[in-house]
Amino acid sequence: MRNHHRFAVVTGASSGIGVAYAERMAERGYDLILIARRRDRLEDVAKRITTKATRAVEIVTADLADAKDLSRIEALITEREDIDVLINNAGLGALGPTSQVTADALENLIKINILALTRLTHAALPGFLRRNSGTIINIASMIAVMPTPSGAGYSGSKAYVLNFTRSLQMELAKTSIIIQAVLPGPVRTEFFEASGLAAAPFPNELFMSAEQLVDTALQALDQGELVCFPSLENASLWTGFEDARIALSRALMQSGRPATRYLEKAQ
Ligand SMILES: NC(=O)c1ccc[n+]([C@@H]2O[C@H](COP(=O)([O-])OP(=O)(O)OC[C@H]3O[C@@H](n4cnc5c(N)ncnc54)[C@H](OP(=O)(O)O)[C@@H]3O)[C@@H](O)[C@H]2O)c1
Repeated sequence: MRNHHRFAVVTGASSGIGVAYAERMAERGYDLILIARRRDRLEDVAKRITTKATRAVEIVTADLADAKDLSRIEALITEREDIDVLINNAGLGALGPTSQVTADALENLIKINILALTRLTHAALPGFLRRNSGTIINIASMIAVMPTPSGAGYSGSKAYVLNFTRSLQMELAKTSIIIQAVLPGPVRTEFFEASGLAAAPFPNELFMSAEQLVDTALQALDQGELVCFPSLENASLWTGFEDARIALSRALMQSGRPATRYLEKAQ
């Protein structure tokens, strides 16, 4: 990542993981554009960062679920030539049995976890391609590979983030643009509260701090690890998962005919 007076955009920079990314990117020499709805929180983050280091920190309040606000942020990203890093971090869970989660809450989740991330990535790409540089960090979740009851919308949305990011990695493989998917386990933030749960469904010892998570994911990025499971000790479990996926992909492409077991049942 280049860092000579270039900007990093962080969505969801008013709490948790987004705050930790803002702080660490400032430490790495980036100027910042911080996005979220809560201005007072963004101002606190900006103040903390600018008292520690001489960085430019711009605050942009926006509700990423609102079409007009989202277009405003897309335009900002498209028009500015000095943005080097986009961190699509804003997200939420809408957790609970699906029939008890409101349809509006699920739609809101899709708008933020999927639509905003997609449109902001799409807005960043032309400039990044023109300059043949830039980094996009998409915050998914370990739940992307763990379909689970009471997290149907959330798991589905994060599986989208993983596949969207992986497909783009393939598309951009011949460029210098870097795109990383980060798939955290439980992180101590306001996430579970904001997602409608009274308490987190994990014991305390399974939680990382937001700073640990971000330090780990940035270390992974520095090491060229573009799919990062921050607490996965045995990395060969992911490569094994990928090998199985590739084997399945090959098998799916074997013929244009229905599989034999369906033909036998039809007779
Ligand atoms: N915490 C975990 O255990 C965990 C695990 C895996 C993945 N993640 C992912 O990590 C990311 C960050 O979550 P977190 O744990 O840091 O949770 P958090 O503390 O609740 O932070 C969520 C951030 O998203 C922003 N946001 C939510 N709705 C928004 C909207 N409509 N418009 C603009 N910004 C909005 C919030 O800002 P405002 O409310 O000020 O708008 C806040 O800054 C999410 O994508 C989450 O899915 C978290």
